[in-house]
Amino acid sequence: MPTLIFEKQSYQRNPDETVLDCLLRHGVSVPHACRNGVCQSCLMRSTDSDPPAPAQHGLKDSLRQQRYFLACTCAPEGDFAATLSGPVLIQLPARVISVEKLTRRIARVRLNPEGAFDYRAGQFINLARGDCLTRPYSIASLPYTEDFLELHVARHEQGRMSRWIHDELQPGNELAVSTPLGECCYRPEHPEQPLLLVGTGCGLAPLYGVIRDALHHGHTGPIWLYHGSRDREGLYLVEELRGLAREHDTFNYVPCLDSPAAGEADFTARRAHEAALARHTDMKGWRVFLCGHPEMVNQTKMKTYLAGAALADIHADPFYLTAL
Ligand SMILES: Cc1cc2nc3c(=O)[nH]c(=O)nc-3n(C[C@H](O)[C@H](O)[C@H](O)COP(=O)(O)OP(=O)(O)OC[C@H]3O[C@@H](n4cnc5c(N)ncnc54)[C@H](O)[C@@H]3O)c2cc1C
Ligand code: FES
Repeated sequence: MPTLIFEKQSYQRNPDETVLDCLLRHGVSVPHACRNGVCQSCLMRSTDSDPPAPAQHGLKDSLRQQRYFLACTCAPEGDFAATLSGPVLIQLPARVISVEKLTRRIARVRLNPEGAFDYRAGQFINLARGDCLTRPYSIASLPYTEDFLELHVARHEQGRMSRWIHDELQPGNELAVSTPLGECCYRPEHPEQPLLLVGTGCGLAPLYGVIRDALHHGHTGPIWLYHGSRDREGLYLVEELRGLAREHDTFNYVPCLDSPAAGEADFTARRAHEAALARHTDMKGWRVFLCGHPEMVNQTKMKTYLAGAALADIHADPFYLTAL
């Protein structure tokens, strides 16, 4: 059985077991959230050898060269030694400005990070509570026109962080935010490129930033947003987005409900990704942004690729929940 040395302590690791699973099985408390190689909250550094390549997927070159890796996707072949990452994902204190219910299920949280906080619209941060409970949340605000960091948080009935945010978080409370992460961002180099954005629930958060960033940069190509939810509680900012579509000829907004109730005839009665794929059958030359439910994101990534979009033009942020 291979040995894992973590912070100078030895642990027996099952063959094929990831570094994170091994440590959690031995009762070692280490930061983690998505357990799918997305949020980077489990960042560690190897102290003796190069980590396996898949465990470095998505990391910056500078981190890769220093042997940083993601513990949740790292299953080295033999013995391995690791340490916690240190101050790479710097945590900044951030004061809560407001917590506002947009629907019964969605809260809009505005934060004021201490000091300069550079980010691009559509990135995400890891948000940490005082007891170190940490979860990734996407950024919905724009860095150059809004002097707060805006997050949209969906309530999960048994969810430790989201329920606490909905029920207990108050203006004035202090949290901590990591440096921003992710590449789900608008790039102004191709202003004429058609953009397709599909989100479910709070998958709207990064897309709301990306769309406003594109419009701010004078994007001339068509922009199509499909926002879906199983019911009305998961669709939000509907009037703001309808207003934005009225103001900008290039922006098209399609709010979708799985099965609209009576009085909801102005919503498309279809899943958001299905409505998008039915209308846009040739995706050659398009840039695609997919955020929210992991199954929707992964399926639609494959389907838009098969419809002609280049893989490098498909940005996907699956909102993996922390496995229990
Ligand atoms: C890159 C990225 C970006 C994200 N961005 C956003 C965002 O912008 N907005 C957003 O809302 N979310 C986002 N998420 C998801 C978010 O990080 C959290 O996973 C989510 O808020 C749930 O966290 P939680 O602590 O409330 O739930 P957890 O406590 O982690 O629970 C996870 C799930 O298990 C269920 N559960 C927990 N305990 C029990 C129990 N005892 N019995 C039965 N069921 C249980 C919960 O109901 C929940 O569905 C993102 C995720 C990723 C990876
Ligand atoms: S990247 Fe490892 S827990 Fe999210």
